[in-house]
This record gives sequence, C-alpha cells and structure tokens, in this order.
Amino acid sequence: MTIGEFLAAKRDGREHSAADLEWFAAEIRSDRVSRVQVAGWLMAAYLNGLTHAETAALTQAMAGSGERLDLSRLRHPVVDKHSTGGVGDAVTPILLPIVAACGVTMVKLSGGGLGFTGGTVDKLAAIPGMRTALSMDEIIATANRVGCAWSGQTSDLAPLDKVFYSIRSETETVSSVPLIASSIMSKKLAANSDAIVLDVKVGSGALMKRLEDARALAETMIEIGNSAGKKTIAVLTDMNQPLASSVGNAVEIRAAIEELKSGCKGRLGSATVAIAKQCAAAAGIDPSTVQQVIKDGRALQKMSEWIAAQGGDADVVNNPEGVLPKAKNTKTVAANQSGWIRGMDCEAIGRASRHLGAGIETEGQAIDFGAGIEMRCEIGDRIEEGQTVFVLHASDESRFEDAERMLSAALQVGEKAVPAPAVYEVIGSR
Ligand code: URA
Repeated sequence: MTIGEFLAAKRDGREHSAADLEWFAAEIRSDRVSRVQVAGWLMAAYLNGLTHAETAALTQAMAGSGERLDLSRLRHPVVDKHSTGGVGDAVTPILLPIVAACGVTMVKLSGGGLGFTGGTVDKLAAIPGMRTALSMDEIIATANRVGCAWSGQTSDLAPLDKVFYSIRSETETVSSVPLIASSIMSKKLAANSDAIVLDVKVGSGALMKRLEDARALAETMIEIGNSAGKKTIAVLTDMNQPLASSVGNAVEIRAAIEELKSGCKGRLGSATVAIAKQCAAAAGIDPSTVQQVIKDGRALQKMSEWIAAQGGDADVVNNPEGVLPKAKNTKTVAANQSGWIRGMDCEAIGRASRHLGAGIETEGQAIDFGAGIEMRCEIGDRIEEGQTVFVLHASDESRFEDAERMLSAALQVGEKAVPAPAVYEVIGSR
C-alpha cells in the first residue's frame, strides 16, 4: 500500500479495510505522511463518508495509537461520560460528585474548548488551586478515596485524535458523523471504563443541529462502544439555548453550583439528573438514588471533597461569589424590541463568550477566567424593549462592542413559543 493508493481509494468512494486504516494510523504516527495528505484524506472521508465497519476500525486504530488507562486498581464498575460539546455545558462539574455520592466510581478526562463550545478543563481551572493535570497514580488514588477523579486529557491518550482534530478544525471537516464518532469513541475506549454515558447535544449550539443527525451519531457511537464490550448509552439533550444560566468559566461554575444547591430543577439540572441516572443504572445502582443525594446534600458535600482532593479551594461550594475569579468589567445588554423569545442562535452566544475572553480565539491567547455571559432570558420568555437580557463580563473592555452586536443578533423575537425540553430521549439503555 502506498499513501497515493490509500488517498485515491477514499477520493473515489471505495471502502478501506481495517488493515489499511491500521496502516494509515501507523504511517501518521511515524511521520511518514504529511499534514496535507491527512487533510486530503479527511476531506475525502468527510465528502464520501465512512461505512460502519470503517468507522469502527478507524476508532480502534486511533484508540490504539497511544496508551490505554489501567483502571485495574479501581473499584468497579467504572463509568465515564462524554459530551459532544455545547454552550453553557456545565454538566461535568456537578455530575461527577452526584454520581460519586451515589456510590459509582467515575473517572473523567476532558478536553479544552473546541471552536464555539467551552471546554471543561477551562471551567474547572477557574476554581483557584484546582489541579487540571493529574498523573495516572493521582487519578487512581483520588477516585478510590473520593469516588471520582477528573483530569485534562493526557497527550498519550489517542494521540492520533489530536492530529486529526487540529486538521479537521482548519479544514472545516469537523461536522461528520463518522469523524466525530471515531474521535470521541477512540478516547473513550482508551480511557478503558466499563460503561460509557454519552451526552449528545442537539440544536443551534451543538455540532448536530437536527435530532435525526444526533440520533445517527448516538447510534454509531453506541455500536462502536458495545462492540468493544463497553455498555454504552446516549442521552440526547437540547442545545438550542445555553444549558447553564451563564456561559464562560467562573460564571458557569457558579451557575452550576447554584443549580446543585437549589435541587437541580432548571435545564442544567434536568439534563444532569437524566445523565446521572444512566450512570447509576449502568453501575447497577438504583437511579432514584440520584435525587436523594441531591436533596440530602451528599452530592454537594462530595463536590467539596472532590475539589479539595484535587487541590482546589473547596470553599467555592459555600461561597462561589467570593472564591471565583471575576473579570474587571461588566456591561448590560438591553433588548432592542419587545416580544416573545422564540429561539436563539446558541452558537453565536458561544462565540460571543469566547470573544469576551472565556475561550481562545487566536493561538497563544490567555483565557480570562472571569469572562463570560450571564443569561437573563430563556426561550419562551416575554421581554420588553430596554430590559436587560444579558450581562457581559470581560477584563478587556474593547471586547464588549462586538460581543453585544453578536448577542443582539442571536435572539429571535416574535410570537409566543414553547422551549424544547432539556432532554429529548435516551438510546441504548436496557
Ligand atoms: N468532541 C470530540 O472529542 N471530538 C469531536 O470530533 C467532536 C466533539
């Protein structure tokens, strides 16, 4: 096999064998293939698609391109969770302690922000002292002691995904079901848990804008997980508006803590509870335990324990306002017309938050952990002209003008509308 033959096969819409995909992965890892050639193959795969067999083989080749976590020293079953990425997606910081308080072992590795979506690493890094890069021994010790451990993704886990991902971002080849499925599942297989619960986001702030595409992605990932011997479940959740009541890092952590303290009754809480119940069920624990640990404060107590175990200031749970970093400036954005909020361009809200400094727009830029957006409206709300609909936070005041323009255009105002439910459906639970 030569690289030319391999590229021509996908360009012409032919199916690769598992052995050919293994060969391609090995060639990239040995630097015998250029970035241009990888880009060419990704575009061909994006346009001509990959069969289920190709997607499964590519996933295995990617998972095998680096180390696999050794979780043998942990109490089993171990459950892992992954989100396909969204705006105001603060599920992980409260899901982990909720599920651990139910008695399930959870180990979670997260990536940084991806395009307009925020990264869990940046959110948890907003907690003063919180360590975001744990060694394997620290992950095991923390998970055994507290019940959960979280760390930023190590570069040794599915390193081929890193190569593909940066090229996909640069070549507009991100939103392909087989490429997303293999990217996510390669990391999940390398992370080696017993069960995987996937949070597949759907809507204007998600990679999958339509329910049928999200279902296809969920089914592809479930098939890959199950055929690798991992119990895999997907929860399809709404992303037509930010999930938390704030978007950013510190502001989002604060919103998540407040949601947990007030019993998880909002959109963020409902999605988190639905995912937590699947994590509990996958570990053989009665899913109703989830509501009990939220109600009786064990989940909140677990959150303090977990943050302290990872070096963070656990007082953040009692006093988020006092502990979390703040941006130097705030600015309110008023509604420019009266009416009902019918919809939002949630992706634009994510982009505005990134522009305020909560994410990285240009390489080398530092994150402003206090930057972000407080949402003062939801789909279905009645608003009056002049009413505050967003509060912006940024240390760099020059960022406000563009963010305000983006946000004003993001609200669709008109006739009365009913918001989509926070959770659409669960696929793969038996
Ligand atoms: N998350 C990932 O890890 N990879 C993708 O391709 C999309 C979302």
